Amino acid sequence: MKEVIKVEKLTKSYKELKAVDELSFSVKEKEIFGLLGPNGSGKTTTINCLLSLLNYDSGEISIFGEEMSPTKYHIKEKIGVVFQEVAVFDELTVRENIDYFCSLYIKDKKKRFEYVNDAIELVELTGFVNFKPKQLSGGLLRRLNIACGIAHKPKLIFLDEPTVAVDPQSRNHILEGIKKLNDNGATIIYTSHYMEEVEFLCDNILIIDKGKVIAKGSKEELKKLVGISLKANFEIDKMSNILLNKVKQFKNIVDATYEDGELFVSFEKTNNLGDFINFLHDNKVKYTKVYSELPTLNDVFLELTGKELRD
Ligand SMILES: Nc1ncnc2c1ncn2[C@@H]1O[C@H](COP(=O)(O)OP(=O)(O)OP(=O)(O)O)[C@@H](O)[C@H]1O
Ligand SMILES: [Mg+2]
Repeated sequence: MKEVIKVEKLTKSYKELKAVDELSFSVKEKEIFGLLGPNGSGKTTTINCLLSLLNYDSGEISIFGEEMSPTKYHIKEKIGVVFQEVAVFDELTVRENIDYFCSLYIKDKKKRFEYVNDAIELVELTGFVNFKPKQLSGGLLRRLNIACGIAHKPKLIFLDEPTVAVDPQSRNHILEGIKKLNDNGATIIYTSHYMEEVEFLCDNILIIDKGKVIAKGSKEELKKLVGISLKANFEIDKMSNILLNKVKQFKNIVDATYEDGELFVSFEKTNNLGDFINFLHDNKVKYTKVYSELPTLNDVFLELTGKELRD
């Protein structure tokens, strides 16, 4: 697969603060690439450097196989950007806004009419085309922001936290829309601090913190880093230390803790929850509730940095 983006040792400081610190990564054609990191980790700064909107201290950036610079308009016209802050015209309607942004790239009126319709359909704003931005809910406004950024059918799309502060319904529309853009052949860079979204959408993921790479790879590769294949919680009234020690020594268990009536167990590579349940029965342990979950990208982040992705 061709590399659409290649970044090598990108560094960008704001005075003493290194917002991006020797960051290297590449993005392959037609993938959805997730840039995941907590607030202030350098996601937007990285995107702005890639787009040549910001000067940077050092490093190399190439897009579509060419070194990127502020005047490379033939590269820029193949890029769509959905900025973190909504940027639309209050005086224009939904359709007029999308048409305006599309007209910066598409001069042919007939073609543009079709493109604008496609964008309206993609973000499902069909019933709102004559509304002004101020009449839209937060979620609908975000969807308009996305339509404006992608209406010219760019090959490479940057979406900077497009779902912040949107209701769950709009969030699903947005995520489905992004999948469709990708199915239609666009390469997508998706930044978020919502690990669930990144897990749902992205093929490859780069986790950053303080401008540095914490981990990168596919979801599966990242999750292997934590060495846990399953986590389980049991609600148990009482548990002696002797039994807890026995639990800790049970095969394939990475960790076990008991606190406030809850036994938390994490299992290594193989899933042996069934055997463990039998073990609890054999030891006459009664539990009222049990639930289990797979490891998440937050577990990866927690393991590597000692803190949660979201505060
Ligand atoms: N113009 C600026 N001047 C000074 N510091 C800045 C500027 N822009 C960003 N920073 C700082 O650089 C760091 C990275 O910021 P950036 O906006 O890239 O993070 P982010 O990962 O996009 O965060 P968020 O999830 O909040 O959008 C932060 O510490 C931020 O405070
Ligand atoms: Mg940001």
